[in-house]
Amino acid sequence: MFREFIILFLALAPLTVPANDVLVLGGTRNTGYEVVRLLKEQGRNVVSLARETSDTSKLDELGVPTVTGDLLDAARMQAIFAENEFDTVISTFGSSFRTKVKPDFTGNRIAIDAAVAAGVKNYVLVTMVGIDETLVALEPRFQKMFSEQIDLKGRAEKHLRASGLDYTIYRPGGLYTGNATGTATLSKDPRAMGLIARRELARMVVAGLDDPARRNQTYTIIDPEIEPGYWDGKSQTANIPQELDESELD
Ligand SMILES: NC(=O)c1ccc[n+]([C@@H]2O[C@H](COP(=O)([O-])OP(=O)(O)OC[C@H]3O[C@@H](n4cnc5c(N)ncnc54)[C@H](OP(=O)(O)O)[C@@H]3O)[C@@H](O)[C@H]2O)c1
Repeated sequence: MFREFIILFLALAPLTVPANDVLVLGGTRNTGYEVVRLLKEQGRNVVSLARETSDTSKLDELGVPTVTGDLLDAARMQAIFAENEFDTVISTFGSSFRTKVKPDFTGNRIAIDAAVAAGVKNYVLVTMVGIDETLVALEPRFQKMFSEQIDLKGRAEKHLRASGLDYTIYRPGGLYTGNATGTATLSKDPRAMGLIARRELARMVVAGLDDPARRNQTYTIIDPEIEPGYWDGKSQTANIPQELDESELD
C-alpha cells in the first residue's frame, strides 16, 4: 500500500519544480521591465507581478511568467507570496500625478509584510531623491511638486528598514527613458542630485543583487555624466545621449 502511494505520488509530482526566485513588482513597464529583461538575460528565475489590466505582451515575448495581482489587494498579495518561493523582491513601481490612489507606501507595506511572512530574504526598493536627509537636494519647486510621493515613499523605506528583511534602497534622481550608460554612481551625499536613465538604473539594481556590501544600505543613484537639461515650466529635459523610441519604454 505504502509502495503504491509512493509510485502514485511520483507520477503526479512535476519533474522539476521551478524556483521562482526573484519577483519584480512593477515589471510590466519602465524600470521594472528593464530589470526583468536583464535578469532573464542572466538566466535568473524571474517572475513579474502584473495587474489584470496590465499589458504583458513584452513579458510574454521574453518568456517571463507573471503572477496576477494588484499591490493594494492585501489578500491577493499574501496568496502570491504563500504560493511561490521567492528569495528576492525588487520593487520598482511608482505613481504619477494622474494616479488617484497612490500605491507607493501601501503597496510596499503589503508586499513587505507578505514577504516577511513567506520567508523572503532580500527586498530591493526604488524610491526617490527627496526623502529624509536628501530633501535638501531638491529645489523648492520639486519639494513642493513631489511632496506626496516623498512622504509615501519615505514611509515605505521606514517600513522596510523595520521589517527585518535584508534590503537595499535606491533613491534615483530624475528618470528619463534612455539607454544604459555604464556611468551611474551610488552616493551617500544628501545633496547629490542628477538624472539617470531607467535602463541604467535597472543595470545598477541588477548588478548589486549579489553584492553583500549593498545589503542594508540606502543610496542616492544618479548619472553624473548626464547634464541636467532645462526646466520648461512643466518638465525637466535631459541631454540624453541616445534617445529611445518612446514606444520602447513609457
Ligand atoms: N519619474 C521620475 O522622474 C522618478 C524620479 C525618481 C524616482 N522615481 C521612482 O522610480 C521608480 C521607477 O519609476 P518608473 O517610472 O520606471 O516606473 P513606474 O512607471 O512608476 O511604474 C510602473 C509599474 O508599476 C506598476 N504598478 C503601479 N501601480 C500598481 C498596482 N497598484 N499594482 C500593481 N502594479 C502597479 C505598473 O503596472 P501596470 O503596467 O499595470 O500599470 C507598472 O508595472 C518608481 O518608484 C518611481 O516613483 C521616478
